[in-house]
Amino acid sequence: MKKILFVSSEAHPLIKTGGLADVSGSLPKALAELSQDIHLILPNYQHLNTSEEIRYVCSLRVDNRDINIMETRLPHTNVMVWLVDYAPFFNFPGNPYNDANGNAWANNAERFTLFCRVAVEVAMNRAHLNWKPDVVHCNDWQSGLVPALLSLEEHRPATVFTIHNMAYQGLFSSSQYYSLNISGRLWHPNGLEFHGMLSMIKGGLVYADRITTVSPTYALEIQTPDFGYGLEGLLRHRQDVLSGILNGIDVEQWNPQTDPAIHQHYDMNSLEQKSGNKTALQQKASLPVNPDIPVFGLISRLVEQKGIDLILDCLPEMMAMPIQFVLLGAGNPNFEHRLQNFAHLYPHKMSVTVGYDENLAHLIEAGSDIFLMPSRFEPCGLNQLYSQRYGTIPIVRQTGGLADSIEDALPESIANGTATGVSFHQAHAGTLMEAIKRTLILFSHKETWRHLQRNSMRKDFSWHNSALQYLKLYNDI
Ligand code: ADP
Ligand code: GLC
Repeated sequence: MKKILFVSSEAHPLIKTGGLADVSGSLPKALAELSQDIHLILPNYQHLNTSEEIRYVCSLRVDNRDINIMETRLPHTNVMVWLVDYAPFFNFPGNPYNDANGNAWANNAERFTLFCRVAVEVAMNRAHLNWKPDVVHCNDWQSGLVPALLSLEEHRPATVFTIHNMAYQGLFSSSQYYSLNISGRLWHPNGLEFHGMLSMIKGGLVYADRITTVSPTYALEIQTPDFGYGLEGLLRHRQDVLSGILNGIDVEQWNPQTDPAIHQHYDMNSLEQKSGNKTALQQKASLPVNPDIPVFGLISRLVEQKGIDLILDCLPEMMAMPIQFVLLGAGNPNFEHRLQNFAHLYPHKMSVTVGYDENLAHLIEAGSDIFLMPSRFEPCGLNQLYSQRYGTIPIVRQTGGLADSIEDALPESIANGTATGVSFHQAHAGTLMEAIKRTLILFSHKETWRHLQRNSMRKDFSWHNSALQYLKLYNDI
């Protein structure tokens, strides 16, 4: 049995901005089910979504600040969570990283440096918790300093750093670095420095014993200039310790047979029941109720990564077709406005909800026929996995985890029963439009469509296999 400290800045259902929370909420649970002794450590944000008790455990002084450690349970699991409680940095409402206009909080460098320092104290068993991990598993730039700071310690635990997205690196000015009071031994181009700036992600990429990312294809892509954001050389240099492990999903939370957020439960033998969700979705989205019209769904952060510009370029042509489109997302205000304009122009075809709404996300997965995910890059992507589990056929661009989890519906894959979606290569509106048209032809062949749905629903995306791969990695270090 391994003792594992899992360090993350978000975990579902406590706090979530994206897929990192889904992973941090479900991988520790899967590892606990494999009898591992795992603790999650998170900042104690103001509005944690839980009805579990949160209790005070101990206090410690870190960087001249008085920190409390609180303890709670990850809802519906046996995983214990330590919360790093420092009110001036974490006790405020809203998004953990950005203000309401999408601008990063001014003190993010201080906030996440303190979080990492406390994680290091816990990892070194200096936080009065009487528990020393064998492995510290860090995720994304917010916990990147942990492997770097641990590299300065004797008798330290092993470290793993998982990249969920190379586009977010935690870059700060050199003057901020000096004010953070981090050892000068880490400040050099082969350390935390990146072109004269502090790069928190480099703390993980340079100093962790093992680096993973969330799909095998993305592990290769980030070693190239198009996906590496200037760190491809470093990643190539560390390729011997870099690997890709595809994310799993929480198959209890995302289960069309039991999902409390959907209108009618179904499985692959009762797919006709899925239409009850389509009706409910059409009603909820104020679209005409019509069981025959293909409904497209999209749930996403509205950012460049997700190929929203490609969708915008396709929309004039899509709106001329007999389809409906239900979109849920928030992010770039320009994307939000342009999408809302289409919804105003075509109220009978398109519904746009700007905001974050988990129940609606589940209903869109259950009620749509087709799910759109034309990402420019996608480290793993979870919605294409949820879609397959709900018999909602995804259209994806062949990149990262999308390439690793969707089998394109071509004559051969349809014939041998492996096809689960439609994929395209070039990030152009024209190729996306071709994929959409190809999907509509498949949709019109009811029997083929049912086959695709059943192939998708049969696939096993549970965490079990991937959690075993992480366990093997921990054991190999
Ligand atoms: P990323 O982490 O890059 O945003 P993923 O596909 O890995 O992409 O994960 C996104 C997660 O966030 C999914 O669980 C998705 O359902 C959820 N999500 C994204 N936007 C919204 C939204 N506006 N409302 C509800 N859930 C959302
Ligand atoms: C990131 C990626 C997404 C991935 C998620 C969880 O946010 O953008 O592709 O699924 O992390 O690993």
